[in-house]
Amino acid sequence: MPTLRRSDGVLVLGNVSLAEVARDPRFGTPAYVYDVDAIAAEGRDLRAAFDDAPHLVAYAVKANSAGPIVKALAAVGCGADVVSGAELTLALRCGVSPESVVFSGVAKTDAELDLAIGSGERGICSIQVESVEEIPRIAARAAAAGRVARVSLRINPGVDKEALDTHSYIATGHDEAKFGVPLSSVPGALDRVSRSPSLRLVGVGSHVGSQLTAVDGYVASARALFELTREVRARFPLTFVDTGGGFGIDYGEGCPVRPADFVRATRALQKEKGLDDLALYCEPGRSLVGAHGVLVASIIQRKVAEGRRWTMIDAGMNDLMRPALYQARHRIVPVVLDAAAAASAYHVVGPVCESSDDFGVHDLPDDTAQSHLREVAILDAGAYGYSMASRYNGRAMASEVFLSGGKIVGATARSAVEEWVQDRLRAGAPLV
Ligand code: LLP
Repeated sequence: MPTLRRSDGVLVLGNVSLAEVARDPRFGTPAYVYDVDAIAAEGRDLRAAFDDAPHLVAYAVKANSAGPIVKALAAVGCGADVVSGAELTLALRCGVSPESVVFSGVAKTDAELDLAIGSGERGICSIQVESVEEIPRIAARAAAAGRVARVSLRINPGVDKEALDTHSYIATGHDEAKFGVPLSSVPGALDRVSRSPSLRLVGVGSHVGSQLTAVDGYVASARALFELTREVRARFPLTFVDTGGGFGIDYGEGCPVRPADFVRATRALQKEKGLDDLALYCEPGRSLVGAHGVLVASIIQRKVAEGRRWTMIDAGMNDLMRPALYQARHRIVPVVLDAAAAASAYHVVGPVCESSDDFGVHDLPDDTAQSHLREVAILDAGAYGYSMASRYNGRAMASEVFLSGGKIVGATARSAVEEWVQDRLRAGAPLV
């Protein structure tokens, strides 16, 4: 459960005043602030939903790759779902065992495959195969390394995009998506694996989309996956079935289901299909971190023109891309709320020179001079915020502040503007 609350008008996350964080010159704004304890608790709670059955909660590192967060989730027994060699290296350095890492992605390079195959005593837990064409490539790299690589088939169950009730950019398990092996190609894929002595098929999986706010679509895809698993295991000694991530969170419009509900529904179906001797894997990203991070921004100025009111803040679409990219709405609230101040609807926008640098219309107090309104917090920014940020328009990367035990336990200062200038000046310099 989110630990954000108001105390005497001041927004508090993980028992730390966000006004103090925002006004601390060591960090500055924009600043991402994360409640690491609440994130660890999400990981623990989700694992508890499996009771004592064999399972892996493979945290999708792409949602938030900050070291303290990956470490905290590793410490409560989560593994990692990675999609690049960099994420794999990070997960291992954060204490995730190679035995708890699955590697997804439609276009893994040879260097990334080598890293996965060469990690630990016998490579990572599983390389998730996303196409028939990838199989001989993985087999060749494993043979060259003198190892047997464990692989799993990531199936594209071809579920109806509309049925998933999420933004089309984040629906992945439908016919037109580039992800996964379509059901029609599964027999060919299995033949290829069985003809490859350097590969061992250990699992079958799917991931159908993100920000799912009902269990139905997820369970429907798990059903297709389990039916296939029953056939596949007649030929291959599988050890797990992986139903992917995608558990939604409440961005303010409600989310009636908790991550554990997806797990319980999937487990019931797994039993019904006679597959409960297999370990059940899932790959949640957003649901573990999303609600436990906020982006704190300072108000730069206001503008009133042509009957419109604008609140211009120092965070932009480069810091939090979700509204510009997916028309996502994040709640925006004052860090210090003066209950007596009159409020109006304002367009909250950032400094980036794009019309899409727009966080939507939000009710905010009017008078910044007299009220205490100096900063706002953009809520539910813990997932796909910093990890998708860029330095577009020569902007600094936001600072990051990590909270635990009711205090600040670590921080990264904003990147220096000078760093960007030097980097761009170096562009095109002679290689030798
Ligand atoms: N597993 C695979 C194979 C995935 O592709 C993803 C997310 C996940 C797990 C984790 O999904 P989650 O539990 O976080 O929903 N940037 C977008 C979301 C992109 C999701 C991509 N894949 C956003 O900000 O909404």
